[in-house]
Amino acid sequence: MDYKKKISELLGSPLVTADDIMIAAEGHGDYALPCFKYAKQLRKSPQAIAAEFAASLADSDVIERTEIAGGYLNFYLSRTAFVRGVMAGEDTQARAAKNAGKTVCIDYSSINIAKPFHIGHLMSTAIGGSLYRIYKYLGWNAVGINHLGDWGTQFGKLLAAYERWGDKTKKLTLDDMLSLYVRFTDESEHDPELAERGRTEFLRIERGDPDALRTYEMFKATTLEEVGKVYARLGIKFDSYNGEAFYNDKMQPIIDELVQKGLAEVSDGALVVRLDDYGMPPCLIRRSDGASLYATRDLAAAQYRADTYKFDKCLYVVATQQNLHFRQLFKVLELMGRPWAKNLVHVQFGMVSYEGQPLSTRKGHVVFLADVINNTVKRARGIIEEKNPDLEDKDHTAECVGVGAVMFFALGTQRIKDVDFDYEKVLSFEGETAPYLQYTHARCRSVIAKAADLPAGDTDYSLLTDDESYGVVTMLSRFEDVVADAADKYEPSVIARYLIDLAQKYNRFYIANRILTDDVELSRARLALTRAVADTIKRGLYLLLTEAPERM
Ligand code: ARG
Repeated sequence: MDYKKKISELLGSPLVTADDIMIAAEGHGDYALPCFKYAKQLRKSPQAIAAEFAASLADSDVIERTEIAGGYLNFYLSRTAFVRGVMAGEDTQARAAKNAGKTVCIDYSSINIAKPFHIGHLMSTAIGGSLYRIYKYLGWNAVGINHLGDWGTQFGKLLAAYERWGDKTKKLTLDDMLSLYVRFTDESEHDPELAERGRTEFLRIERGDPDALRTYEMFKATTLEEVGKVYARLGIKFDSYNGEAFYNDKMQPIIDELVQKGLAEVSDGALVVRLDDYGMPPCLIRRSDGASLYATRDLAAAQYRADTYKFDKCLYVVATQQNLHFRQLFKVLELMGRPWAKNLVHVQFGMVSYEGQPLSTRKGHVVFLADVINNTVKRARGIIEEKNPDLEDKDHTAECVGVGAVMFFALGTQRIKDVDFDYEKVLSFEGETAPYLQYTHARCRSVIAKAADLPAGDTDYSLLTDDESYGVVTMLSRFEDVVADAADKYEPSVIARYLIDLAQKYNRFYIANRILTDDVELSRARLALTRAVADTIKRGLYLLLTEAPERM
Protein backbone atom coordinates (compact mmCIF):
# COMPACT_ATOMS: atom_id res chain seq x y z
CA MET A 1 0.00 0.00 0.00
CA ASP A 2 1.10 3.54 -0.62
CA TYR A 3 0.87 4.69 2.97
CA LYS A 4 1.72 8.29 2.24
CA LYS A 5 -1.24 8.50 -0.07
CA LYS A 6 -3.44 6.53 2.28
CA ILE A 7 -2.65 8.73 5.26
CA SER A 8 -3.20 11.92 3.30
CA GLU A 9 -6.60 10.58 2.21
CA LEU A 10 -7.52 9.60 5.76
CA LEU A 11 -6.75 13.11 6.97
CA GLY A 12 -9.41 14.34 4.58
CA SER A 13 -7.90 17.80 4.22
CA PRO A 14 -7.44 19.31 0.76
CA LEU A 15 -4.28 20.97 2.07
CA VAL A 16 -2.40 17.73 2.71
CA THR A 17 -0.96 15.75 -0.20
CA ALA A 18 0.89 12.45 -0.15
CA ASP A 19 4.15 14.32 -0.67
CA ASP A 20 3.70 16.14 2.62
CA ILE A 21 3.90 12.88 4.56
CA MET A 22 7.41 11.75 5.37
CA ILE A 23 9.09 8.70 6.77
CA ALA A 24 9.42 9.24 10.51
CA ALA A 25 12.76 9.56 12.23
CA GLU A 26 13.84 6.47 14.17
CA GLY A 27 11.77 6.13 17.34
CA HIS A 28 9.00 8.51 16.21
CA GLY A 29 6.56 6.12 14.63
CA ASP A 30 6.34 5.11 10.98
CA TYR A 31 5.34 8.30 9.20
CA ALA A 32 5.17 11.93 10.18
CA LEU A 33 3.47 15.10 8.99
CA PRO A 34 5.13 18.45 9.68
CA CYS A 35 2.23 20.84 10.27
CA PHE A 36 4.13 24.15 10.13
CA LYS A 37 3.30 25.03 6.59
CA TYR A 38 -0.47 25.06 7.17
CA ALA A 39 -0.27 27.45 10.13
CA LYS A 40 -0.54 30.64 8.17
CA GLN A 41 -3.49 29.57 6.07
CA LEU A 42 -5.42 27.96 8.92
CA ARG A 43 -4.45 30.70 11.41
CA LYS A 44 -3.64 28.12 14.04
CA SER A 45 -0.49 26.87 15.67
CA PRO A 46 1.12 23.77 14.15
CA GLN A 47 0.39 21.92 17.42
CA ALA A 48 -3.29 22.78 17.23
CA ILE A 49 -3.43 21.66 13.62
CA ALA A 50 -1.69 18.39 14.47
CA ALA A 51 -4.23 17.82 17.24
CA GLU A 52 -7.12 18.34 14.86
CA PHE A 53 -5.67 15.96 12.31
CA ALA A 54 -5.07 13.43 15.06
CA ALA A 55 -8.71 13.60 16.14
CA SER A 56 -9.91 12.94 12.60
CA LEU A 57 -7.97 9.68 12.58
CA ALA A 58 -9.40 8.33 15.80
CA ASP A 59 -11.03 5.26 14.34
CA SER A 60 -8.84 4.18 11.45
CA ASP A 61 -7.74 0.56 11.18
CA VAL A 62 -4.59 1.55 9.31
CA ILE A 63 -3.26 3.92 11.98
CA GLU A 64 -3.03 2.50 15.45
CA ARG A 65 -2.15 5.70 17.21
CA THR A 66 -0.73 9.16 16.69
CA GLU A 67 1.53 11.36 18.74
CA ILE A 68 2.06 15.10 18.62
CA ALA A 69 5.65 16.19 18.99
CA GLY A 70 6.49 19.83 18.42
CA GLY A 71 4.70 20.79 15.22
CA TYR A 72 4.78 17.22 13.96
CA LEU A 73 2.08 14.63 13.91
CA ASN A 74 3.62 11.15 14.11
CA PHE A 75 1.74 8.12 12.87
CA TYR A 76 2.11 4.63 14.25
CA LEU A 77 0.69 2.13 11.80
CA SER A 78 -1.43 -0.72 12.93
CA ARG A 79 1.42 -3.22 12.81
CA THR A 80 -0.39 -6.43 12.04
CA ALA A 81 -2.21 -4.97 9.05
CA PHE A 82 1.00 -3.36 7.86
CA VAL A 83 3.00 -6.58 8.13
CA ARG A 84 0.30 -8.51 6.29
CA GLY A 85 0.26 -5.93 3.49
CA VAL A 86 4.01 -5.92 3.05
CA MET A 87 4.28 -9.69 3.08
CA ALA A 88 1.54 -9.97 0.49
CA GLY A 89 3.61 -7.78 -1.86
CA GLU A 90 0.88 -5.18 -2.35
CA ASP A 91 3.28 -2.51 -3.60
CA THR A 92 4.84 -4.68 -6.23
CA GLN A 93 1.51 -5.10 -7.94
CA ALA A 94 0.67 -1.40 -8.04
CA ARG A 95 4.06 -0.31 -9.31
CA ALA A 96 4.25 -1.20 -12.99
CA ALA A 97 0.96 0.38 -14.03
CA LYS A 98 2.24 3.83 -13.13
CA ASN A 99 4.92 3.98 -15.83
CA ALA A 100 3.21 2.03 -18.58
CA GLY A 101 3.68 3.70 -21.94
CA LYS A 102 6.82 5.62 -20.98
CA THR A 103 10.01 5.05 -22.93
CA VAL A 104 13.60 5.55 -21.85
CA CYS A 105 16.55 5.21 -24.21
CA ILE A 106 19.76 4.22 -22.47
CA ASP A 107 23.02 4.68 -24.36
CA TYR A 108 25.55 2.58 -22.51
CA SER A 109 28.73 0.55 -22.83
CA SER A 110 29.14 2.08 -26.31
CA ILE A 111 32.48 0.46 -26.93
CA ASN A 112 34.93 1.21 -29.69
CA ILE A 113 35.45 -1.37 -32.41
CA ALA A 114 38.90 -2.96 -32.65
CA LYS A 115 39.83 -1.62 -29.23
CA PRO A 116 40.10 -3.76 -26.12
CA PHE A 117 37.12 -4.07 -23.80
CA HIS A 118 39.01 -2.80 -20.81
CA ILE A 119 38.06 -2.22 -17.22
CA GLY A 120 37.36 1.43 -18.04
CA HIS A 121 34.21 0.36 -19.89
CA LEU A 122 33.05 -1.50 -16.86
CA MET A 123 31.29 1.47 -15.29
CA SER A 124 29.21 2.44 -18.30
CA THR A 125 28.32 -1.17 -18.96
CA ALA A 126 27.34 -1.90 -15.37
CA ILE A 127 25.53 1.37 -14.59
CA GLY A 128 23.67 1.37 -17.91
CA GLY A 129 22.85 -2.34 -17.70
CA SER A 130 21.55 -1.88 -14.18
CA LEU A 131 19.45 1.17 -15.10
CA TYR A 132 18.04 -0.83 -17.99
CA ARG A 133 16.77 -3.47 -15.54
CA ILE A 134 15.61 -0.88 -13.02
CA TYR A 135 13.50 1.01 -15.56
CA LYS A 136 12.00 -2.20 -16.89
CA TYR A 137 11.19 -3.28 -13.37
CA LEU A 138 9.35 0.00 -12.88
CA GLY A 139 7.22 -0.64 -15.95
CA TRP A 140 9.04 1.56 -18.46
CA ASN A 141 9.75 0.53 -21.98
CA ALA A 142 13.56 0.58 -21.99
CA VAL A 143 15.66 0.71 -25.14
CA GLY A 144 19.29 -0.29 -24.60
CA ILE A 145 21.60 1.24 -27.19
CA ASN A 146 25.24 0.37 -27.78
CA HIS A 147 26.40 3.44 -29.68
CA LEU A 148 29.40 1.70 -31.17
CA GLY A 149 32.52 3.67 -31.94
CA ASP A 150 32.74 2.13 -35.40
CA TRP A 151 33.76 5.03 -37.57
CA GLY A 152 36.89 7.12 -37.98
CA THR A 153 40.31 7.27 -39.54
CA GLN A 154 41.64 4.57 -37.21
CA PHE A 155 39.86 1.98 -39.32
CA GLY A 156 41.90 3.05 -42.34
CA LYS A 157 45.06 2.60 -40.30
CA LEU A 158 43.99 -0.78 -39.06
CA LEU A 159 43.10 -1.86 -42.56
CA ALA A 160 46.50 -0.74 -43.85
CA ALA A 161 48.22 -2.60 -41.02
CA TYR A 162 46.17 -5.73 -41.60
CA GLU A 163 46.97 -5.70 -45.29
CA ARG A 164 50.67 -5.33 -44.63
CA TRP A 165 51.21 -7.63 -41.64
CA GLY A 166 48.00 -9.50 -40.95
CA ASP A 167 47.94 -13.29 -41.12
CA LYS A 168 45.02 -13.89 -43.48
CA THR A 169 45.15 -17.64 -43.04
CA LYS A 170 43.79 -17.61 -39.49
CA LYS A 171 40.91 -15.99 -37.71
CA LEU A 172 41.72 -12.55 -36.42
CA THR A 173 41.28 -11.82 -32.70
CA LEU A 174 40.75 -8.61 -30.78
CA ASP A 175 44.31 -8.96 -29.47
CA ASP A 176 45.64 -9.18 -33.02
CA MET A 177 43.80 -6.02 -33.94
CA LEU A 178 45.23 -4.23 -30.96
CA SER A 179 48.80 -5.22 -31.81
CA LEU A 180 48.31 -4.37 -35.47
CA TYR A 181 47.07 -0.95 -34.50
CA VAL A 182 49.93 -0.37 -32.08
CA ARG A 183 52.43 -1.48 -34.70
CA PHE A 184 50.91 0.88 -37.23
CA THR A 185 51.13 3.79 -34.80
CA ASP A 186 54.79 3.01 -34.06
CA GLU A 187 55.96 2.41 -37.62
CA SER A 188 53.95 5.12 -39.36
CA GLU A 189 55.82 7.70 -37.29
CA HIS A 190 58.90 7.29 -39.48
CA ASP A 191 57.22 5.76 -42.52
CA PRO A 192 55.23 8.47 -44.31
CA GLU A 193 54.17 6.05 -46.99
CA LEU A 194 52.47 3.86 -44.41
CA ALA A 195 50.78 6.87 -42.86
CA GLU A 196 49.47 7.81 -46.29
CA ARG A 197 48.22 4.26 -46.79
CA GLY A 198 46.16 4.64 -43.63
CA ARG A 199 44.46 7.68 -45.09
CA THR A 200 43.76 6.13 -48.48
CA GLU A 201 42.43 2.95 -46.91
CA PHE A 202 39.96 4.99 -44.90
CA LEU A 203 38.84 6.71 -48.09
CA ARG A 204 38.22 3.26 -49.56
CA ILE A 205 36.00 2.39 -46.62
CA GLU A 206 34.19 5.71 -46.90
CA ARG A 207 33.57 5.24 -50.60
CA GLY A 208 32.20 1.78 -49.99
CA ASP A 209 34.88 -0.25 -51.80
CA PRO A 210 33.58 -3.83 -51.40
CA ASP A 211 36.93 -5.35 -50.35
CA ALA A 212 37.65 -2.64 -47.83
CA LEU A 213 34.13 -2.84 -46.47
CA ARG A 214 34.34 -6.59 -46.09
CA THR A 215 37.47 -6.33 -43.95
CA TYR A 216 36.01 -3.46 -41.96
CA GLU A 217 32.88 -5.52 -41.28
CA MET A 218 35.11 -8.40 -40.22
CA PHE A 219 36.84 -6.15 -37.66
CA LYS A 220 33.46 -5.20 -36.36
CA ALA A 221 32.09 -8.73 -36.20
CA THR A 222 35.21 -10.00 -34.45
CA THR A 223 35.02 -7.28 -31.81
CA LEU A 224 31.34 -7.86 -31.17
CA GLU A 225 31.82 -11.61 -30.95
CA GLU A 226 34.48 -11.30 -28.28
CA VAL A 227 32.80 -8.52 -26.36
CA GLY A 228 29.54 -10.42 -26.66
CA LYS A 229 30.99 -13.16 -24.47
CA VAL A 230 31.57 -10.67 -21.69
CA TYR A 231 28.09 -9.21 -22.13
CA ALA A 232 26.57 -12.67 -21.92
CA ARG A 233 28.41 -13.35 -18.68
CA LEU A 234 27.18 -10.12 -17.17
CA GLY A 235 23.62 -10.53 -18.42
CA ILE A 236 23.90 -7.34 -20.49
CA LYS A 237 21.49 -6.85 -23.38
CA PHE A 238 21.00 -4.26 -26.08
CA ASP A 239 18.09 -3.53 -28.35
CA SER A 240 20.24 -1.66 -30.82
CA TYR A 241 23.86 -1.64 -31.92
CA ASN A 242 23.45 1.43 -34.10
CA GLY A 243 26.76 3.19 -33.67
CA GLU A 244 28.55 6.09 -35.24
CA ALA A 245 28.71 4.57 -38.74
CA PHE A 246 24.94 4.18 -38.79
CA TYR A 247 24.63 7.96 -38.94
CA ASN A 248 26.83 8.43 -42.01
CA ASP A 249 23.83 9.28 -44.15
CA LYS A 250 21.78 10.98 -41.46
CA MET A 251 23.87 14.04 -40.65
CA GLN A 252 23.27 16.25 -43.68
CA PRO A 253 19.73 17.38 -42.76
CA ILE A 254 21.01 18.42 -39.32
CA ILE A 255 23.92 20.33 -40.84
CA ASP A 256 21.59 22.04 -43.33
CA GLU A 257 19.20 23.04 -40.59
CA LEU A 258 22.02 24.45 -38.46
CA VAL A 259 23.14 26.59 -41.38
CA GLN A 260 19.61 27.66 -42.32
CA LYS A 261 18.77 28.70 -38.79
CA GLY A 262 21.98 30.70 -38.65
CA LEU A 263 23.30 28.64 -35.77
CA ALA A 264 26.40 27.34 -37.55
CA GLU A 265 29.10 29.48 -39.07
CA VAL A 266 32.31 28.88 -40.97
CA SER A 267 35.44 29.47 -38.97
CA ASP A 268 38.87 28.71 -40.47
CA GLY A 269 37.16 26.52 -43.03
CA ALA A 270 35.38 24.48 -40.39
CA LEU A 271 31.70 24.64 -39.54
CA VAL A 272 31.02 25.44 -35.88
CA VAL A 273 28.18 26.43 -33.59
CA ARG A 274 29.35 29.20 -31.29
CA LEU A 275 28.37 28.73 -27.69
CA ASP A 276 30.19 31.68 -26.09
CA ASP A 277 26.90 32.95 -24.65
CA TYR A 278 26.67 29.77 -22.65
CA GLY A 279 30.26 29.79 -21.48
CA MET A 280 31.32 26.92 -23.72
CA PRO A 281 33.80 26.60 -26.55
CA PRO A 282 32.29 26.18 -30.04
CA CYS A 283 30.80 22.83 -31.01
CA LEU A 284 32.63 21.54 -34.08
CA ILE A 285 30.21 20.23 -36.72
CA ARG A 286 32.42 19.75 -39.79
CA ARG A 287 36.17 19.82 -40.08
CA SER A 288 37.84 21.94 -42.72
CA ASP A 289 38.62 18.78 -44.72
CA GLY A 290 34.90 18.03 -44.82
CA ALA A 291 34.95 15.22 -42.24
CA SER A 292 32.12 14.99 -39.74
CA LEU A 293 32.73 14.65 -36.03
CA TYR A 294 31.69 12.75 -32.96
CA ALA A 295 29.30 15.60 -32.08
CA THR A 296 27.75 15.63 -35.57
CA ARG A 297 26.97 11.94 -35.24
CA ASP A 298 25.54 12.44 -31.79
CA LEU A 299 23.23 15.18 -33.09
CA ALA A 300 21.95 12.83 -35.77
CA ALA A 301 21.68 9.99 -33.25
CA ALA A 302 19.60 12.07 -30.84
CA GLN A 303 17.26 13.06 -33.66
CA TYR A 304 16.99 9.46 -34.80
CA ARG A 305 16.17 8.26 -31.29
CA ALA A 306 13.54 10.95 -30.84
CA ASP A 307 11.92 9.99 -34.16
CA THR A 308 12.22 6.24 -33.75
CA TYR A 309 11.53 5.67 -30.06
CA LYS A 310 9.69 8.87 -29.10
CA PHE A 311 11.48 8.70 -25.78
CA ASP A 312 10.40 10.41 -22.59
CA LYS A 313 14.02 10.35 -21.48
CA CYS A 314 17.29 9.57 -23.18
CA LEU A 315 20.24 8.73 -20.95
CA TYR A 316 23.91 8.76 -21.92
CA VAL A 317 25.92 6.69 -19.48
CA VAL A 318 29.38 8.07 -20.21
CA ALA A 319 32.37 9.10 -18.08
CA THR A 320 32.65 12.56 -16.60
CA GLN A 321 35.45 13.39 -19.06
CA GLN A 322 32.83 13.82 -21.77
CA ASN A 323 30.81 16.30 -19.78
CA LEU A 324 31.58 19.23 -22.12
CA HIS A 325 30.66 17.21 -25.18
CA PHE A 326 27.22 16.43 -23.79
CA ARG A 327 26.58 19.93 -22.52
CA GLN A 328 27.38 21.22 -26.01
CA LEU A 329 25.24 18.56 -27.64
CA PHE A 330 22.22 19.26 -25.47
CA LYS A 331 22.60 23.01 -25.91
CA VAL A 332 22.80 22.80 -29.71
CA LEU A 333 19.65 20.67 -29.80
CA GLU A 334 17.92 23.15 -27.54
CA LEU A 335 18.95 26.02 -29.81
CA MET A 336 17.57 24.05 -32.75
CA GLY A 337 14.26 24.17 -30.93
CA ARG A 338 13.94 20.50 -30.07
CA PRO A 339 11.45 20.35 -27.20
CA TRP A 340 12.85 16.97 -26.16
CA ALA A 341 16.33 18.39 -25.60
CA LYS A 342 15.40 18.87 -21.95
CA ASN A 343 14.87 15.13 -21.63
CA LEU A 344 18.47 14.26 -22.48
CA VAL A 345 20.61 13.36 -19.49
CA HIS A 346 24.34 12.77 -19.20
CA VAL A 347 24.60 10.08 -16.52
CA GLN A 348 28.23 10.59 -15.67
CA PHE A 349 30.58 8.64 -13.48
CA GLY A 350 34.05 9.00 -11.98
CA MET A 351 37.31 7.27 -12.73
CA VAL A 352 38.33 3.70 -12.15
CA SER A 353 41.79 2.69 -11.06
CA TYR A 354 43.04 -0.84 -10.73
CA GLU A 355 44.85 -1.97 -7.59
CA GLY A 356 45.95 1.60 -6.99
CA GLN A 357 47.23 2.13 -10.56
CA PRO A 358 45.60 4.55 -12.94
CA LEU A 359 44.22 3.00 -16.11
CA SER A 360 45.48 3.85 -19.50
CA THR A 361 44.61 2.34 -22.82
CA ARG A 362 48.14 2.89 -24.03
CA LYS A 363 50.31 -0.09 -24.64
CA GLY A 364 51.14 -2.15 -21.60
CA HIS A 365 48.58 -0.64 -19.25
CA VAL A 366 45.48 -2.26 -20.59
CA VAL A 367 43.55 -4.20 -18.00
CA PHE A 368 41.08 -6.38 -19.84
CA LEU A 369 37.67 -6.67 -18.28
CA ALA A 370 37.46 -10.36 -19.12
CA ASP A 371 40.72 -10.96 -17.22
CA VAL A 372 39.47 -9.06 -14.20
CA ILE A 373 36.30 -11.15 -14.16
CA ASN A 374 38.25 -14.38 -14.63
CA ASN A 375 40.62 -13.55 -11.80
CA THR A 376 37.79 -12.59 -9.48
CA VAL A 377 35.89 -15.79 -10.24
CA LYS A 378 39.05 -17.82 -9.65
CA ARG A 379 39.60 -16.22 -6.27
CA ALA A 380 35.93 -16.67 -5.39
CA ARG A 381 36.32 -20.34 -6.20
CA GLY A 382 39.24 -20.52 -3.74
CA ILE A 383 37.24 -18.86 -0.98
CA ILE A 384 34.29 -21.21 -1.52
CA GLU A 385 36.59 -24.22 -1.49
CA GLU A 386 37.85 -23.07 1.88
CA LYS A 387 34.53 -22.10 3.45
CA ASN A 388 32.29 -24.83 2.13
CA PRO A 389 34.27 -27.71 0.60
CA ASP A 390 31.18 -29.93 0.29
CA LEU A 391 29.17 -27.48 -1.77
CA GLU A 392 27.74 -28.90 -4.98
CA ASP A 393 28.22 -26.96 -8.17
CA LYS A 394 31.10 -24.83 -6.94
CA ASP A 395 31.85 -23.54 -10.43
CA HIS A 396 28.45 -22.00 -10.86
CA THR A 397 28.54 -20.47 -7.40
CA ALA A 398 32.04 -19.09 -7.99
CA GLU A 399 30.86 -17.52 -11.24
CA CYS A 400 27.91 -15.86 -9.46
CA VAL A 401 30.09 -14.62 -6.62
CA GLY A 402 32.92 -13.40 -8.85
CA VAL A 403 30.72 -11.61 -11.35
CA GLY A 404 28.59 -10.22 -8.53
CA ALA A 405 31.67 -8.89 -6.76
CA VAL A 406 32.76 -7.03 -9.90
CA MET A 407 29.26 -5.68 -10.55
CA PHE A 408 28.81 -4.51 -7.00
CA PHE A 409 32.17 -2.82 -7.20
CA ALA A 410 30.87 -0.79 -10.14
CA LEU A 411 27.40 -0.19 -8.74
CA GLY A 412 27.82 -0.02 -4.99
CA THR A 413 29.35 3.46 -4.75
CA GLN A 414 27.82 6.77 -5.80
CA ARG A 415 28.66 6.90 -9.46
CA ILE A 416 30.30 10.30 -9.41
CA LYS A 417 33.05 9.10 -7.07
CA ASP A 418 36.35 7.68 -8.27
CA VAL A 419 36.81 4.02 -7.37
CA ASP A 420 39.72 1.65 -7.07
CA PHE A 421 39.35 -2.02 -7.89
CA ASP A 422 40.88 -4.27 -5.26
CA TYR A 423 40.34 -8.05 -5.29
CA GLU A 424 40.40 -8.48 -1.51
CA LYS A 425 37.92 -5.71 -0.98
CA VAL A 426 35.35 -6.70 -3.61
CA LEU A 427 35.41 -10.31 -2.44
CA SER A 428 35.16 -9.69 1.29
CA PHE A 429 32.29 -11.69 2.80
CA GLU A 430 32.00 -9.23 5.67
CA GLY A 431 32.22 -5.90 3.88
CA GLU A 432 29.63 -3.99 1.94
CA THR A 433 29.89 -6.31 -1.02
CA ALA A 434 27.89 -8.61 -3.25
CA PRO A 435 29.30 -11.73 -1.56
CA TYR A 436 27.98 -10.44 1.78
CA LEU A 437 24.50 -10.06 0.29
CA GLN A 438 24.69 -13.38 -1.54
CA TYR A 439 25.80 -15.06 1.65
CA THR A 440 22.91 -13.56 3.62
CA HIS A 441 20.54 -14.70 0.90
CA ALA A 442 21.93 -18.24 0.88
CA ARG A 443 21.69 -18.39 4.67
CA CYS A 444 18.00 -17.47 4.45
CA ARG A 445 17.44 -20.17 1.84
CA SER A 446 19.16 -22.77 3.94
CA VAL A 447 16.94 -21.99 6.95
CA ILE A 448 13.92 -22.26 4.68
CA ALA A 449 15.15 -25.61 3.34
CA LYS A 450 15.60 -26.92 6.89
CA ALA A 451 11.98 -26.14 7.65
CA ALA A 452 10.64 -28.18 4.76
CA ASP A 453 8.52 -30.38 7.03
CA LEU A 454 6.95 -27.63 9.07
CA PRO A 455 3.18 -28.20 8.88
CA ALA A 456 1.50 -25.80 6.47
CA GLY A 457 -0.98 -23.22 7.69
CA ASP A 458 -1.87 -19.55 7.77
CA THR A 459 0.74 -17.12 8.97
CA ASP A 460 -0.10 -15.11 12.07
CA TYR A 461 1.37 -11.73 11.20
CA SER A 462 0.81 -10.35 14.66
CA LEU A 463 3.83 -12.43 15.67
CA LEU A 464 6.03 -10.11 13.63
CA THR A 465 5.03 -6.90 15.40
CA ASP A 466 7.81 -6.83 18.00
CA ASP A 467 10.31 -4.03 17.37
CA GLU A 468 13.01 -6.21 15.84
CA SER A 469 10.81 -8.09 13.37
CA TYR A 470 8.87 -4.95 12.63
CA GLY A 471 12.08 -3.10 11.84
CA VAL A 472 12.91 -5.70 9.21
CA VAL A 473 9.38 -5.53 7.77
CA THR A 474 9.64 -1.74 7.60
CA MET A 475 12.84 -2.09 5.59
CA LEU A 476 11.10 -4.53 3.27
CA SER A 477 8.25 -2.10 2.73
CA ARG A 478 10.66 0.49 1.31
CA PHE A 479 11.92 -1.59 -1.58
CA GLU A 480 9.63 -0.17 -4.25
CA ASP A 481 10.34 3.42 -3.22
CA VAL A 482 14.05 2.72 -3.20
CA VAL A 483 13.97 1.36 -6.75
CA ALA A 484 11.95 4.36 -7.92
CA ASP A 485 14.44 6.66 -6.21
CA ALA A 486 17.36 4.88 -7.89
CA ALA A 487 15.69 5.47 -11.27
CA ASP A 488 14.96 9.14 -10.53
CA LYS A 489 18.58 9.72 -9.58
CA TYR A 490 20.05 7.36 -12.20
CA GLU A 491 21.86 5.87 -9.27
CA PRO A 492 21.94 2.08 -8.80
CA SER A 493 24.00 2.60 -5.64
CA VAL A 494 20.78 3.63 -3.89
CA ILE A 495 19.63 0.02 -4.22
CA ALA A 496 23.04 -1.32 -3.19
CA ARG A 497 23.01 0.81 -0.04
CA TYR A 498 19.48 -0.33 0.77
CA LEU A 499 20.30 -4.02 0.35
CA ILE A 500 23.26 -3.71 2.67
CA ASP A 501 21.06 -2.06 5.31
CA LEU A 502 18.38 -4.70 4.89
CA ALA A 503 20.88 -7.54 5.18
CA GLN A 504 22.49 -6.01 8.25
CA LYS A 505 19.11 -5.55 9.92
CA TYR A 506 18.06 -9.08 9.12
CA ASN A 507 21.37 -10.52 10.30
CA ARG A 508 20.98 -8.76 13.63
CA PHE A 509 17.49 -10.23 13.89
CA TYR A 510 18.83 -13.64 12.95
CA ILE A 511 21.54 -13.57 15.59
CA ALA A 512 19.13 -12.43 18.30
CA ASN A 513 16.26 -14.79 17.45
CA ARG A 514 15.93 -18.42 16.52
CA ILE A 515 13.95 -18.77 13.34
CA LEU A 516 12.91 -22.34 13.95
CA THR A 517 11.56 -22.74 17.45
CA ASP A 518 9.32 -25.29 19.20
CA ASP A 519 6.42 -22.96 18.55
CA VAL A 520 5.06 -23.84 15.10
CA GLU A 521 3.17 -20.56 14.72
CA LEU A 522 6.20 -18.48 15.60
CA SER A 523 8.47 -20.52 13.33
CA ARG A 524 6.06 -20.08 10.48
CA ALA A 525 5.93 -16.32 10.94
CA ARG A 526 9.70 -15.96 11.17
CA LEU A 527 10.14 -18.17 8.16
CA ALA A 528 7.78 -15.94 6.20
CA LEU A 529 9.94 -12.99 7.19
CA THR A 530 13.09 -14.86 6.20
CA ARG A 531 11.61 -15.75 2.85
CA ALA A 532 10.56 -12.16 2.20
CA VAL A 533 14.09 -10.96 3.01
CA ALA A 534 15.63 -13.56 0.70
CA ASP A 535 13.23 -12.68 -2.12
CA THR A 536 13.91 -8.98 -1.73
CA ILE A 537 17.69 -9.43 -1.71
CA LYS A 538 17.43 -11.60 -4.79
CA ARG A 539 15.22 -9.11 -6.60
CA GLY A 540 17.52 -6.23 -5.66
CA LEU A 541 20.66 -8.08 -6.71
CA TYR A 542 19.05 -8.85 -10.03
CA LEU A 543 18.66 -5.11 -10.57
CA LEU A 544 22.39 -4.86 -9.84
CA LEU A 545 23.23 -7.49 -12.47
CA THR A 546 24.03 -10.06 -9.81
CA GLU A 547 22.72 -13.55 -9.29
CA ALA A 548 21.90 -14.93 -5.88
CA PRO A 549 22.81 -18.62 -5.66
CA GLU A 550 20.65 -20.82 -3.42
CA ARG A 551 23.65 -22.20 -1.55
CA MET A 552 27.08 -20.88 -0.83
N1 ARG B 1 32.47 5.27 -27.80
C1 ARG B 1 32.57 6.37 -26.90
C2 ARG B 1 33.78 6.19 -25.99
O1 ARG B 1 34.19 5.09 -25.73
C3 ARG B 1 31.35 6.52 -26.02
C4 ARG B 1 30.09 6.83 -26.76
C5 ARG B 1 29.02 7.32 -25.85
N2 ARG B 1 27.78 7.56 -26.48
C6 ARG B 1 27.52 8.61 -27.29
N3 ARG B 1 26.34 8.68 -27.85
N4 ARG B 1 28.40 9.55 -27.48
O2 ARG B 1 34.31 7.19 -25.52
